[in-house]
Amino acid sequence: MKHLLDINSLNNEQILEIMNLASRFELLGFVPKLLNKKPTVAFLFFENSTRTKFSFELAAKNLNYNTLDFNFNTSSLSKGEDFFDTLNNLSAIGADIIVVRSSDDFIYEYSKKKYPYRLSFVNAGSGVGSHPTQALLDFYTIQKHLGSVYNKKIVIVGDIKHSRVAKSNIELLNRVGAKVVCVAPKCFQDENIKNVQFEEDLFLNTQNADVVMALRIQKERIEEEIDYLEYIENYQINEGNFNTDAILMHPGPVNWGVELSKELQFAKCSKIILEQAHNGTFVRMAILNLIVKGIYGSHC
Ligand code: NCD
Repeated sequence: MKHLLDINSLNNEQILEIMNLASRFELLGFVPKLLNKKPTVAFLFFENSTRTKFSFELAAKNLNYNTLDFNFNTSSLSKGEDFFDTLNNLSAIGADIIVVRSSDDFIYEYSKKKYPYRLSFVNAGSGVGSHPTQALLDFYTIQKHLGSVYNKKIVIVGDIKHSRVAKSNIELLNRVGAKVVCVAPKCFQDENIKNVQFEEDLFLNTQNADVVMALRIQKERIEEEIDYLEYIENYQINEGNFNTDAILMHPGPVNWGVELSKELQFAKCSKIILEQAHNGTFVRMAILNLIVKGIYGSHC
């Protein structure tokens, strides 16, 4: 595995390998093998992040890798340096893996360029289109609770249109045989997403769900006025409409009182949301470790 750009670029064996390795890291931790060089991971986050950034950083540190934290404002990009030059210089200094989050999809273009030194890219969320590591950690979390996801009904609720988490989850969960249903008002549906059923009625569609995954309204990507009261009335998940036999998930950050009711914050069913964050470290350890295996031919 050279890069991790999106779910479609992973084959089934790689997905399985990530799941198995993540579970090994969770159960047994990491026993480092001697490598000729200590791998270095640079984090280039051009959008805010709490869970993704820190779990990637902790994952790299747990694996005994060097970490470099890039900050636009204190970097030479803010002096007008070209982004390609920045990447070339980071790799010349010693970075092996660039973990990128950005509001557009430039990771695809830059991962195709030729660098004097070998450079791998990992997508930590790009634009509205893809967030593969979130989908992989969600899949890992669902499997821990349900065993197989085959034929399980997974209902994704909310702003599907602007959510990269939704897109990557739909790709991955469809691939592994889950029945994915998206529940959203018309304005948050996306006709470009194929192979998924869109529904408007929350109650009807969540009652027999195995998993209910709520999403934050991506207000930073929406120009029109959002009618929050109408959204809350029709699409908020609360104690009245949530079937407690289902698993409640959310990639975070949660806006309690909007997509999930304030009461749910302290309910038992919400503890899986923190489990997602917890599992993210192991899944990201597995991803970084498989890329390092590709670079140095050895891993744990
Ligand atoms: C998501 C993202 O950045 O796309 N956050 C995350 O990585 N857990 C979801 C969001 O911001 O709503």
